[in-house]
Amino acid sequence: MIYQIMLPGKVRFGVGSLDTIGDEANKLAAKHALIVTDPGVYQAGIADSVKERLSKAELSVDIFSEAEPEPTFPRLNAAAEQFGKEGYDLLVGVGGGSSMDTAKGLSVLLAHGGKGQDYGGVDKVPGPGIPIFTLPTTAGTGSEVTNIAIFGDPSKGRKLGLVSRHLLARLALVDPTLTYGCPSKVTAASGIDALIHAIECYTGTKANTFSDALALEAMRLIAGSLRTAVKNGSDKEARNRMSEGALMAGIAFGNSGVAAVHALAYPLGSRFHVPHGVANGLLLAYVTECNLPANLPKYATVAQMLGVKTQGLSLQEAAEKGVEAMKALAKDIGIPLHLRELGVPREALEEMAVTTMEVTRLLANNPKELTLDDVRRIWQNAW
Ligand SMILES: [Fe+2]
Repeated sequence: MIYQIMLPGKVRFGVGSLDTIGDEANKLAAKHALIVTDPGVYQAGIADSVKERLSKAELSVDIFSEAEPEPTFPRLNAAAEQFGKEGYDLLVGVGGGSSMDTAKGLSVLLAHGGKGQDYGGVDKVPGPGIPIFTLPTTAGTGSEVTNIAIFGDPSKGRKLGLVSRHLLARLALVDPTLTYGCPSKVTAASGIDALIHAIECYTGTKANTFSDALALEAMRLIAGSLRTAVKNGSDKEARNRMSEGALMAGIAFGNSGVAAVHALAYPLGSRFHVPHGVANGLLLAYVTECNLPANLPKYATVAQMLGVKTQGLSLQEAAEKGVEAMKALAKDIGIPLHLRELGVPREALEEMAVTTMEVTRLLANNPKELTLDDVRRIWQNAW
């Protein structure tokens, strides 16, 4: 099997690694940086602490604190218009996926002009953009190390990804201390999303030895620390393990993709505005139940990683206990297990099933080839 691994220019992980950002910016000879962040992260003072370090390294630094939770092309294009003439030579995405994706989008538009939509799809970015540093403040998205940025396209009522190696960060700087203040609900949703990145790329059709190694360790780290990180956010060990696990899962799925859980989460997000991680966390067990026969050995290993004692069990039994463990984890961290709890009417399921089938890029990576009937059944079970 031929596979390729795309990585950011550099990944630096660890408590206190934020202090190296000035040196890293100087190595690029950067002079004028724009920090891209969202209002919550800005109010928490994190953007200012990044700015302070860059200013000490003699960069002039501006902050754009209006990255929106679900970034859209119109907002991205407006930001590019606003900042186009500033001559930035470094963009620093500080936050969750939305801030880092906005930084990636700006990197392309400030270097190449045009509108965000012009670069939607795979390999549409003509060359390197403005260098990007990514600093995640949640343990979840993996956007710090992936080559993709997702934007909503309101005129077409859908989301579109820019996928290009030119979106990879020059530096992914993962300092777990930036996640220490992350609220419990966000910790739960982003954390289970990271776990699902690992599970989906490990069991998906593009899985390979390299991404498997990262995905397995990511599952072990996340499954062992997510409950604690949610219940006791000041537990630094749990926070550190979550950051490291999410980073490893990010590199794994950035190369081997995600699958049907994410495909079903798309319509739930766009139609009912369910946060990405909550949608994924709710759907995980139901999609896995359907997928089990396609790869029992791997699902049995997933069960082990989730803490199931599999000794003496058949592969089928172990894999089924893995599904139970997924439900137990979701319940323990406050993720609902039924769509009706989110106010989704039963009548909406048919349309969501049809929409799911359109997410072919992700369904192609699912271990089981899902029919419309399979997808209908998953939605029904999840209701
Ligand atoms: Fe995700």
